[in-house]
Amino acid sequence: MFRKPVIAGNWKMNTLPFEGVELARSLREKLGEVANVEVVIAPPFTHLHAINEEVKGTPIRLAAQNLNAKDSGAYTGEISAAMLLTMGCDFAIIGHSERRQYFGETDDSVNEKILAALANQLTPIVCVGETLEEREANKTLEVIATQLSGALKGLTAEGWKDIIVAYEPVWAIGTGKTASNEQAQEVHGFIRSELEKSLGKAIADKTRILYGGSVKPDSICGLMDQPDIDGALVGGASLKAEDFVKIVNFGKG
Ligand code: 13P
Repeated sequence: MFRKPVIAGNWKMNTLPFEGVELARSLREKLGEVANVEVVIAPPFTHLHAINEEVKGTPIRLAAQNLNAKDSGAYTGEISAAMLLTMGCDFAIIGHSERRQYFGETDDSVNEKILAALANQLTPIVCVGETLEEREANKTLEVIATQLSGALKGLTAEGWKDIIVAYEPVWAIGTGKTASNEQAQEVHGFIRSELEKSLGKAIADKTRILYGGSVKPDSICGLMDQPDIDGALVGGASLKAEDFVKIVNFGKG
């Protein structure tokens, strides 16, 4: 089954708006036409409007880094899925480990956010991943299964819309320690088998599963060679246009 690869850059809380616009412009110029890979960038909320102006009509698509599951109301400081859609976003990263770790997100809140994204035509990029402690206690697959079933609660094969899953081992994020190709493939294969168990083979076969955690131009190729790795969610290296473009080109200049 062909799955179009996705390379997504999560900028996290980096760049000022003018720097973000320059980065997006540089990406646009360096990337040119890319047809065989879906290219996504997730700048901070404050940059979305200006960056949308920069990338409109190009292959670069926009993601939000988070959203609030409510439609509107007295939720000071929060941003709804509908707002993000009108800012030009097609995707939303949901349940990133930094949000789980620092902002109290749980599998339940991740589930609510996924439903809100889908109701507003945003494609969720749902993050799961184990901590080092959990891996060392041999709990990786158990943790992933729990996160996945919690995140996808209530979703059925009939109502399924495109959802992207990102496997990001917490111990590999921002540490320079990438999971080995084999370690990543093992978990990706497991995620696909869990999807098959709960939603059936057709959905498992078409769902794109991205790897995230210290992905660099020299590690992308080996990862993309794995049968169940369909792309990458890139943090640090997405802030350098040259590196990100190399990753989009699977390591080639
Ligand atoms: P790094 O690529 O900086 O390790 O970050 C990965 C990540 O968290 C992407 O969402």
